[in-house]
Amino acid sequence: MRTRSADAGLVVTTAEGAGAPGQPASALALVGVSAGYGRIPIVHDVSIEIRRGQIVALVGSNGSGKSTLMKSVIGLLPALSGTILLAGLDVTAAQPEARVARGLGYVPQVNDVFNRLDVRENLEMGAYRMRRGQVAGRIDEILEAFPTLKPLIRRNARQLSGGQRKLVAIARVLMTSPSMLLLDEPTAGLAPQLAEEILTTQVAVLAELGCGVLLVEQRVAEAFRVADHAYVLVNGHIYLGGRPAEVIETPGFDRLMLGLDLAVPAPGPSAAPGPGQESAG
Ligand SMILES: Nc1ncnc2c1ncn2[C@@H]1O[C@H](COP(=O)(O)OP(=O)(O)OP(=O)(O)O)[C@@H](O)[C@H]1O
Ligand SMILES: [Mg+2]
Repeated sequence: MRTRSADAGLVVTTAEGAGAPGQPASALALVGVSAGYGRIPIVHDVSIEIRRGQIVALVGSNGSGKSTLMKSVIGLLPALSGTILLAGLDVTAAQPEARVARGLGYVPQVNDVFNRLDVRENLEMGAYRMRRGQVAGRIDEILEAFPTLKPLIRRNARQLSGGQRKLVAIARVLMTSPSMLLLDEPTAGLAPQLAEEILTTQVAVLAELGCGVLLVEQRVAEAFRVADHAYVLVNGHIYLGGRPAEVIETPGFDRLMLGLDLAVPAPGPSAAPGPGQESAG
């Protein structure tokens, strides 16, 4: 159901090694991960796997713990228990920089553009690991994929709209051609048409080229249209998991998304078969 776009392919042409023979199929695996801001977990015992080329949507009500889980995967919060495997490598104790060096990209919910820098400089900051000679070419590719940024390239980030800042944050992460991408509400504040374009074109093409994507979205219908698998987080527990079309049809889904029925105990990880388990047989 994904849409392929030749134009958008420009942005992800160097997703190096993604899906290459001999590479582990799993881009990211969380095994029993708990995380929180102190010693008390906010997300509990989360086990999910994202394969190369797969888009996994993570949805849930406000405060259910989606961003907390994302922060533990990138390493901004320590995992209180469990294991985080990035392309098969245990990175549970690794610093965020080491995870980024291993191909993990993260677009946080509150976008982190550098206010004092212009758009081009922001993109260059995303390329700090790239060889100097490659940076200008990569920026050109990114601008082809995000044409709305072209006329803004020398504008100070402080002078951008919320949606424009979001685009810069996404574009900056794509500078490094990540092989596993964490997107925390990438379309928040964007006009519907642009949001649709990001999800059905940019994100889908990224996945087609072998990148794993964990996508947190409020736009459930749009996210489920591009996702291969979906999970619903309730009170920090994976409450439901399955094919998006099945998840959205589950009785009570709308109430879960509104944060209602939260007194219902989570059924535990066995009720949420991960994508890896699905294809194991
Ligand atoms: N820095 C923090 N320190 C302590 N508690 C926090 C912090 N940030 C978030 N929380 C708490 O953790 C819980 C989960 O928050 P989180 O941001 O992960 O939710 P979310 O699912 O991403 O919600 P939203 O859809 O609103 O973005 C909430 O109860 C929130 O109050
Ligand atoms: Mg959040």
